[in-house]
Amino acid sequence: TIDQKVESLLQQMTLEEKVGQMNQYNGFWDATGPAPQGGNAAIKYEHLKKGWVGSMLNVTGTEETRKLQKLVVEESRLGIPLLFGFDVIHGYKTLAPIPLAEAASWDMEAIEKSARIAAEEASAVGLHWTFAPMVDISRDPRWGRVMEGGGEDTFLGSQIAKARVNGFQGDDLSQHNTIAACAKHFAAYGFAEAGKEYNTVDIGTSTLFNTVLPTFKAAVDADVKTVMNGFNILNGIPVTGDVFLQRDVLKGKWGFEGFVISDWASIAEMAPHGFAKDLKHTAELGVKAGSDMDMESSSYVNHLVQNVQEGKVDEALVDDAVRRILKVKFELGLFDDPYKYCNSEREKEELYHEDHRAGVLEMAMKSIVLLKNENNLLPLAKDQANIAVIGELADDKNSPLGSWRIGSDDNTAVSFLEGLKSYTNNVTYASGPKVFNKDANFLNEVQVNESDTSGMEEAVTLAKESDVVLMVLGEHGFQSGEARSRTNLNLPGLQLDLLKAVYEVNQNVVLVLMNGRPLTIEWEAENVPAILETWQLGTETGNAIAKVLFGDYNPSGKLPMTFPRSIGQIPIYYNHFSTGRPDPQPNVFWAHYSDEQNSPLYPFGYGLSYTQFEYSELKIDASDQSAIKVSATIKNTGSVAGEEVVQLYIRDKVASVTRPIKELKGFKKISLQPGESKVVEFVLTDAELGFYNHNYDFVVEPGEFEVMMGTNSQEVLSQTFEKQ
Ligand code: IFM
Repeated sequence: TIDQKVESLLQQMTLEEKVGQMNQYNGFWDATGPAPQGGNAAIKYEHLKKGWVGSMLNVTGTEETRKLQKLVVEESRLGIPLLFGFDVIHGYKTLAPIPLAEAASWDMEAIEKSARIAAEEASAVGLHWTFAPMVDISRDPRWGRVMEGGGEDTFLGSQIAKARVNGFQGDDLSQHNTIAACAKHFAAYGFAEAGKEYNTVDIGTSTLFNTVLPTFKAAVDADVKTVMNGFNILNGIPVTGDVFLQRDVLKGKWGFEGFVISDWASIAEMAPHGFAKDLKHTAELGVKAGSDMDMESSSYVNHLVQNVQEGKVDEALVDDAVRRILKVKFELGLFDDPYKYCNSEREKEELYHEDHRAGVLEMAMKSIVLLKNENNLLPLAKDQANIAVIGELADDKNSPLGSWRIGSDDNTAVSFLEGLKSYTNNVTYASGPKVFNKDANFLNEVQVNESDTSGMEEAVTLAKESDVVLMVLGEHGFQSGEARSRTNLNLPGLQLDLLKAVYEVNQNVVLVLMNGRPLTIEWEAENVPAILETWQLGTETGNAIAKVLFGDYNPSGKLPMTFPRSIGQIPIYYNHFSTGRPDPQPNVFWAHYSDEQNSPLYPFGYGLSYTQFEYSELKIDASDQSAIKVSATIKNTGSVAGEEVVQLYIRDKVASVTRPIKELKGFKKISLQPGESKVVEFVLTDAELGFYNHNYDFVVEPGEFEVMMGTNSQEVLSQTFEKQ
């Protein structure tokens, strides 16, 4: 068995070799070239030859990975193969929409397929392991990494976690086209104070147990092979050094058998956090807490052996970490053939394969959310004359690829204009004022023009002469992602000024949004008749949007995150608790703002279609208390076929730990022809009705429950039942 093989290999290893397996390096030099001379690269190279490196990140390509694998397999004493890891977040070359956009599809089959496509391409370039999915729940759109997650909700996020793990890992990890997944960042990274990257997290047990941890548990239940911890402290303890999280919960209570990788230098960063006194101390604390592999801080490789020799760390802890790492290598089949992912023929065939492009196009169409459509302005007629397209992003082949795409090629998206032009030639384009620097990239801050108005007049003149104006506005792709927190969530630069100026001369405006997070678009929502949320849709962006604009695809996406009216409302999320004074009072003493409404601009779960759906006959059958049946009839009352995501929410009215006013507990995507209706049924079991109390026990308490079914988290039918 694999366990026996692991054990017999472990017996042959020296302490240095064991610690080596726990060391991961970034490969920043040209792996295909000659051996590096001098500097950090030369040290790493020597360590590789000695077997003091278990894994490399950011080495990619069959030629590169083959060369380093050969070095280690042939020159190190035991020849234990390397594990090559990489951030394959929403595709490798062929890019799917950013994960937040995919979440808007609420389509688990499509999301799993999208991860499968990413795994096909990643495995074809020598990679064994992706640092995805990010399963961090976040309620703060100021935090740039919301683009990488599944949104604000734990139930939806858990389904997505499972779908993505299954997509990457497939049924059999030893196949050449499946890769190990990594659920990250364990835990609570998405709750960074004020949405500021790497910031402090301080949350209570109820939020930790009920909101943050379940998505990780879902990934572990789906057999995710690795978990990454994070940069943040949680209630005073760096999560990288958190014994409770990693040893008690993850490896204890949940029985996780894979390994934990630190985040980049997060072991070393326990020192600046004020938790460890120096790098050597970080190694001791990291391994004790169950961080099995050190990403790029050289803490383990330089100090762990000494910590063991001095009796500060029990070697059994090192053995446990190494067993876990070796097990994943065996499961991937690397001991049978360390080069099985290094097939250069396959590399050529798989990248940008037409099936992959078709797959991400499908995913992209499913990710689009129709936010507003007054007087059925959309879809456009195929012979629509005089279309103006305005906005710099319309002609951009780079920005719509989104952030976190380090394996991809720049400028490979089908731009909005290109997509549109495959439908019609009745298009005139004006960019309007320049907004973003053209060379914006992953490593630099995006520069935004706030003052140069050149291009404004030309755009307004064009709008005046046109029948319909498509305004393509939003954020640059690199304005979200890691280290891209914002304090304003408006349209950057002069885009709102441009929109207002256009609207003044022509009100037939469709706003096509491209962005990596919810934005504050109150003026836009109030005035512009049609709004399409297209996020950043990846390689097939323009084609996907054009199909929706011209009605060849009826949008069915629903928001996975609340859109606030203003920054001051953040954090704003649908599943909040009731205050003691929830309702308006005759005086000012109730829970509200003096200068803003309580409600969001667009709620969680919101999204329109080119048709309409009517909900009726909500019924509850609680006769079998272990399987309570809830059903409603949904009818397509419009004139075209459409898909609807039917959503089920509950509220536990009185509990020993108060419960949110609403919690998503089920959803189903159905398609209906015009005039057709369907009865949709959900079954509620204790798994949906219970919650974690402050002792982290899962409890189901008797009493009254409210059940709600509807088209979004606000528009619902509601009934109650009694749980015995
Ligand atoms: O996987 C990422 C992580 O999410 C953030 N820090 C760097 C890692 C590796 O690139």
